Amino acid sequence: SLKVVTIGGGSSYTPEIVEGFIKRHKSIPIKELWLVDIEEGYEKLMIVGNLAKRMVKKAGINMDIHLTINRKEALKDADFVTTQLRVGLLDARIKDERIPLSHGMLGQETNGFGGFMKALRTIPVILDIAKEMEQLCPNAWLINFSNPSGMVTEAVQRFSRIKCIGLCNVPINMTKSVAELLGHEQFLLHFIGMNHYVWAKHLYYDGKDILQEMLPKILEQESERAVVKNIRPISWNKDFIISTGMMPCPYHRYYYMHDDILQEELEDFSRGKTRAETVKSVEAKLFELYKDMNLDKKPKELEERGGAYYSDTACDLIKAIYTDSREIMVVNVRNNNTIASLPDDAVIETSAVITRAGAIPLSISSLPDVAQSELLQLKTFERLTIEAAITGDYNTALRALTHNPLVKHGKITQIVFDELLEAHKDYLDKW
Ligand code: G6P
Ligand code: MN
Ligand code: MN
Repeated sequence: SLKVVTIGGGSSYTPEIVEGFIKRHKSIPIKELWLVDIEEGYEKLMIVGNLAKRMVKKAGINMDIHLTINRKEALKDADFVTTQLRVGLLDARIKDERIPLSHGMLGQETNGFGGFMKALRTIPVILDIAKEMEQLCPNAWLINFSNPSGMVTEAVQRFSRIKCIGLCNVPINMTKSVAELLGHEQFLLHFIGMNHYVWAKHLYYDGKDILQEMLPKILEQESERAVVKNIRPISWNKDFIISTGMMPCPYHRYYYMHDDILQEELEDFSRGKTRAETVKSVEAKLFELYKDMNLDKKPKELEERGGAYYSDTACDLIKAIYTDSREIMVVNVRNNNTIASLPDDAVIETSAVITRAGAIPLSISSLPDVAQSELLQLKTFERLTIEAAITGDYNTALRALTHNPLVKHGKITQIVFDELLEAHKDYLDKW
């Protein structure tokens, strides 16, 4: 019988993952589910944890829910640990979004300056968790959702002995959109790239690769409704995307349509309605619902969040590892020469075969040179960011920022960085 630990268990997303575990209880017989949070999050943990208990009771399954702020007690002898924590909570995200915007730069939680700051806050915390796991559950799998998911996963893989696979809900949402268009589910999308910079490069359906012929329709569909709730469906330059020959992820807009998104974000900013602020009010509403003792299922309103369906990926991945199913899933995994321009130990996001021994990436036709170069630049940014998060070295941080195409370069870089360091100082021990 299995012991699963969810760190950041007080998150408003938790009913999703609990629902996912309930649905799959036959194939993943979880005996103990430990929801862990920190002292600051205790009240939320109790509210959402009690909802989780009601959900399990209603389902009539035998799964004990433990709610605790004692992380070590929770980690002892765990089989799977999932991380969905947000260091500094949504208030930190508000700063990540508002401070760059106040200097005319993109404000986004995982891309540009915001994603960089989030990495500086999150990587040391995740590495602490990995160190505790080395002592308390050295053979457990760490399934990471904490953003920036690619960088966080790479830090664990390179700087701890813990087995770690990173996840994101974007590929599954892209897959669901294509399924809707095709009216079928019997196809294989082959993904390649990095977290929040991933493409679908092949679409195998009924004996052939139909991605090129489908691209125009895919882009049209995506112009009406972005694949995830947190990104606006600003229309693509369709001919340009078609010339790349690949289906972009919604986050490519931050790069390919930077100025268009920045303009809209600046408007939101001036109205006090950045994404983080919107999410904060959605979250407040969700917790009001969760408090209702008659509620015993995941409420519809949770679909307002960009992370919808993350539990399907998390639970399916745990199931695939546990049952050694060898099915194909999209995960954040060690490159191992899948993308020629990146080091072997870089973490990439790609389709992989899931086994009890981990995720084995599928080999793929080579990426166009342009895409390889984009990935090399972003990966260099990520690796310098990881190094900065671990060392607290100011110039390494500046070198990282210099490689990020969403950040302005020059004196302004330091001005904004210094302001962010000051704003986040409670959550940045190394700085
Ligand atoms: C997407 C991303 C997640 C991210 C989420 C933000 O789904 O894949 O990594 O956390 O959006 O959604 P939110 O509702 O918090 O803006
Ligand atoms: Mn994601
Ligand atoms: Mn300075």
